[in-house]
Amino acid sequence: MDDKWIQPPIVCDHLTKGKLLFDTKEYSFAIASFRACLDNLPAKPIINEDGDIIYTVDEIVLSTRLFILRALWKQTLLDSTTTYTDTTLDEVKAILKILTTTTECRSVLCMLAVSTIARIINGDVLYKGESVLSTKDISNMGIQACRIILDESYGNIKERRILYSIECDLYERRQGDLQSAAKSIESLLKESPKVQSQQKRLRELHIQLGLIDVVEEKAKKEASRQHKKRQRMKKKEKDSSKLDSILDTLQSDVSATLSRSPTYNFFEGLDNSQKSREKATIIDWSCIPDDIQPKFENKSKEKRLLRKRNQLESLYILLSGLVEKVSTTKESGRPIHIVDFGSGSGNSCLVFAFLLLQKKDIPCRFTLIDNNPHSVKLGKLRTNKVGLDSSVQWLCQDVSNFHESFDIGLATHLCGGATDSMMERCLLHKAAFIATPCCLGSIVFNAHENVVSQAKPGRGYGWNTNKRTSLTYPRSACFRDQITVDNYAIITRLADCSLTTGQSDNELHIKGKRFLDSDRLRLAQEANYDTSFGQLGSKIDCGPRSDVLCGICKA
Ligand SMILES: C[S@@+](CC[C@H](N)C(=O)[O-])C[C@H]1O[C@@H](n2cnc3c(N)ncnc32)[C@H](O)[C@@H]1O
Repeated sequence: MDDKWIQPPIVCDHLTKGKLLFDTKEYSFAIASFRACLDNLPAKPIINEDGDIIYTVDEIVLSTRLFILRALWKQTLLDSTTTYTDTTLDEVKAILKILTTTTECRSVLCMLAVSTIARIINGDVLYKGESVLSTKDISNMGIQACRIILDESYGNIKERRILYSIECDLYERRQGDLQSAAKSIESLLKESPKVQSQQKRLRELHIQLGLIDVVEEKAKKEASRQHKKRQRMKKKEKDSSKLDSILDTLQSDVSATLSRSPTYNFFEGLDNSQKSREKATIIDWSCIPDDIQPKFENKSKEKRLLRKRNQLESLYILLSGLVEKVSTTKESGRPIHIVDFGSGSGNSCLVFAFLLLQKKDIPCRFTLIDNNPHSVKLGKLRTNKVGLDSSVQWLCQDVSNFHESFDIGLATHLCGGATDSMMERCLLHKAAFIATPCCLGSIVFNAHENVVSQAKPGRGYGWNTNKRTSLTYPRSACFRDQITVDNYAIITRLADCSLTTGQSDNELHIKGKRFLDSDRLRLAQEANYDTSFGQLGSKIDCGPRSDVLCGICKA
């Protein structure tokens, strides 16, 4: 029962005394005092100093009777052997009578009275022991109590929901009147349409009433699912044939862009190591501290761990080659600043930091950025445990908010358009980059002029964000002239291997993916970069997402 009882005005000494006794848990004496108060009621309403009526007599009676009801209930709780059922019932009847006969008493107190009665009748608050309150008459009283409030539009939305729900219970459980029970919930949903638990309850009542045929409903759902699937397939086929011819016309530009830079061979080390992979151990994993070993929450994913290690080995070759190359051009003494965009908890970059910092020949420092606070917290802990704090800083923020200068940008499987933000940062600071893109289907377009957003907001762009990238698509001027944003958006979905499960290596999917890769690299070329495109390894060794984009500024 509600403990925040509204204190009635002090109409007489008996009430004050009753309240005191109530507070000291002398319930039977308190009841006696309240009854004495009722016998000594003032004849007129209570009027304040300004002459306004603040309490009607009915209100005083109601509140005093509610005190009695409450005292009865508390007393019953104290002594479960005592049954006060009849007395309590009499009290409830008296209160209902006041409520149904008076037109004056329509205040907060009335609301409180009715909801309390309804709750008592519903069995929410009453007796520990056996109750005789299960008769039809009693539940009628509860329903009557609910109706007083509900018909007269009293109470706030939450209170009304409780009363509708109590009314439904009374109809359903005490009277077996499912139709009326359903009506209570229908009315509740008219006032609060989004309450899922009540929608479910109404559905169950409708099923019991035979208004919903579950078998038929299931069949309809399945038919609609199949229909939508066919529609999707049709659309996909239509898109595919349209895009196939568009991509064919772009093929020569795509191939030219993806060809490896003649000036700097990013993949030399990787090609050499792959030739002698069996013999060479690129990373001696037994020397990597356990705290920074790549880990996955689901430990059973052995295959995934093996792939990750293979990917890291290839990335490490690319990165250490690039570190050497960059060290020849930068001013001496300053450590090479490597930034890992979307680092997660450091599953990739902490291994590289550990190895490169151990070598000591080329001084490096690292910044790891992720917008997931949980990952950053974990990453900081891992960094601290292996003593890399002095050379590794962590930032919890969106990649697009990183404004420091740096020499090499890394992005391993950074989601959707965040890879484009990372590349934008690199081009701005003339930093070299290594990126293994993923989640191409979740690039979320900004609605520029003449741009129709095809992608669903809220997918893939980092932790718990539905941020749209503010970048222009297609990324490169070359392809912007040749393809519309609408078609570009369709290609992003088509190229996403996570969306084309089972057909991830079909020809069109690969064509689409190559186009997106080349668009990104073409942008870098337009900014005076040498670029190369390659793979971290075979699909068996490194998984399906092993395409890698590399670039280094020529000037
Ligand atoms: C697939 S995980 C890759 C983690 C890590 N690079 C690795 O290879 O293990 C992608 C990470 O990028 C982060 N991320 C995605 N979008 C981001 C954004 N816009 N800004 C910062 N972090 C982002 C995600 O929170 C997630 O931790």
